[in-house]
Amino acid sequence: MNRSSKNPKDLLREFWQKDQYVQYTNAITQKRLGAGNLWAPPDDIVPRNPLLYLSVGIPDSDWLPRAELNQSLRRVMSRKDDAGLRYGFGKGYYPIRKFLAEKYNREKGLDATEEWFLLTNGSTVAIDLIVRALINPGDVIVTETPTYMGSLSNFLGVGAEICPIPMDQSGLKVEELARKIKSLKETGKRVKLVYVISAFQNPSGLSMSTQRKKELLKLAADEKFLILDDDAYGDLYYDAPPKANLAALSGGAGVLTVGTFSKTVATGLRIGWVHAHPDALNLFSRVKFDMGQNQMALHMMGRFLDGGHLEPHVNRMRLLYKKKMKLAADLMKTYLSDLVSFERPAGGFYLWLKLKKGLTAKAVWRTATQEGVSVNPGYMSFPDLNQEKGEYLRIAYSWTPMNQLKEAVLRLARACRRVAEGDSA
Ligand SMILES: Cc1ncc(COP(=O)(O)O)c(C=O)c1O
Repeated sequence: MNRSSKNPKDLLREFWQKDQYVQYTNAITQKRLGAGNLWAPPDDIVPRNPLLYLSVGIPDSDWLPRAELNQSLRRVMSRKDDAGLRYGFGKGYYPIRKFLAEKYNREKGLDATEEWFLLTNGSTVAIDLIVRALINPGDVIVTETPTYMGSLSNFLGVGAEICPIPMDQSGLKVEELARKIKSLKETGKRVKLVYVISAFQNPSGLSMSTQRKKELLKLAADEKFLILDDDAYGDLYYDAPPKANLAALSGGAGVLTVGTFSKTVATGLRIGWVHAHPDALNLFSRVKFDMGQNQMALHMMGRFLDGGHLEPHVNRMRLLYKKKMKLAADLMKTYLSDLVSFERPAGGFYLWLKLKKGLTAKAVWRTATQEGVSVNPGYMSFPDLNQEKGEYLRIAYSWTPMNQLKEAVLRLARACRRVAEGDSA
């Protein structure tokens, strides 16, 4: 045997260079390597001012229910036993599942018990669990276009073929989906899962109409696909709650709903869930092995919920986000109406801007960073993440402090104006 004279440490260092790691990734990861970090501002641009953020879709940090969470945590830690400090198994902390069942029944017109809920580390893990249990490499998942980039990652991660279907003001174009299913059938493929964000969608802010929901359910029944309804934003309506929940319309059959406390309370809690028929949950449990979730967070949330803190908090946040949306939208109308168009959302965190006059998302994203405001190029919300051009921008106004929002939008307006005048960064 030909032995190297080098010591193993040097050999290992030489071998495990970046390219070697890349070679060890699977085919699916390799396909996505060019996508880069789509959340972050471009790293070759130096902002002229300390960055403000219109790119962060999380709750306003000045308005987090810190005192109530703190009080709830102290209650957990003052227990004599170790309930909040040891492993938890099964479908997740019972009092939260019971709370969710009552909330869904009261607000969405369902007839669920706690057996219909499985808690997960955020809705991201709920979605991941569902696709890991259901999807084989090559299976087709339909998404709205645009859609939430994180879910695209989860879908690509299990080797799904993503089939994007456009939306209009009423949501996913079901007629187009029906045509697509027909053409897929001709190539021997069938749709297994249709992923929708039916209320205040990320990134478009659109919601699905009741009529469209009924059409989708009818098609699901005819073609035998499952519907995954990502309800991250449904509670954050400004004036009226979303109408006709998909799971309620279907009587709970064939619809999997995922939810989260990330957008209503705090993203760091990592508490989300799946609502689905108990038989379906049993299937998802088969691919779940995590020795339980963070019990401290669950028990803290349990105390928060039974202390009655959720509803008043969410009511306050609805008013705040409505005010922020109005301020951002009014400023855009004043300063940018010749360069962008958009619809005002009825809930959620986002304005979806369509750029006019040949402006591209990439140029605006880069120039805005130079002006000192971070935004999200819209192409991150399309399955083809690598496309460099594109005419959409996502503006998240939820996290930006109220007293910075005006300046952030003015910086964006300056950036758009510069790009229109040929002065891109
Ligand atoms: C539509 C949608 N689903 C899921 C998530 C992830 O939420 P969680 O923190 O519960 O994993 C997000 C976060 O941005 C989202 O926008």
